[in-house]
Amino acid sequence: MDMFFDDGELGRTVPALPEGAVLIPNWLTPEQQRWVVGQFRTWAAGPVPPHSARIGAHRMSVQTVCLGWHWRPYEYTREATDVNGRRVLAFPEWLVRLGRLALTAAGDPAADLYTPDTALVNFYDDAARMGMHQDRDERSSAPVVSLSIGDTARFRFGNSDGRGRPYTDLDLESGDLFVFGGPARFAYHGVQKVLPGTAPVDCGLAAGRINITLRETGLPG
Ligand code: SIN
Ligand code: MN
Repeated sequence: MDMFFDDGELGRTVPALPEGAVLIPNWLTPEQQRWVVGQFRTWAAGPVPPHSARIGAHRMSVQTVCLGWHWRPYEYTREATDVNGRRVLAFPEWLVRLGRLALTAAGDPAADLYTPDTALVNFYDDAARMGMHQDRDERSSAPVVSLSIGDTARFRFGNSDGRGRPYTDLDLESGDLFVFGGPARFAYHGVQKVLPGTAPVDCGLAAGRINITLRETGLPG
């Protein structure tokens, strides 16, 4: 049977998603995943260390390092004023190309116009999660491209009206691409939990999960 099915595709069902949301399982190869993990280590050792953003009195459980623009709740700035005041690393050209390839894979006819200028790179340990929220600190309504590496996340993708139903629960596994744009761009979404011990041995990350979201901020260069 090995010759008929790629590893990882067996037993994987892709749930129905609202218009504008696309899941492409195993989009990044293990080699690409390892390379991205290497880049993550470089970013994490850069001018602004991974940081748990504060939302009101709480801290997020994920640790975030940003490229291009530094995100904190409600605002993008060039300098990470809530961390150490340093300017974040430039947004790498290869991530623009990867974003366009991702949108092409997702069937977006405007893929070649996509010019993401920020990446929010989140690290999840076993206990980290992310409550239901909208990505709406951007002034652009271009799609969000999400890449996952490491442990599987139980991801909830909902609707634009509120945190409740209807929503779809799906697993984001190592190498998966998830895109949300068009009518799904402002849908609430969150990470219910990370499933420890599920990272494939060849993904480059022994434990935990990396999620990278590419976005267009719509801010002047
Ligand atoms: C996010 O909503 O910004 C991150 C989603 C994820 O970690 O899959
Ligand atoms: Mn989000």
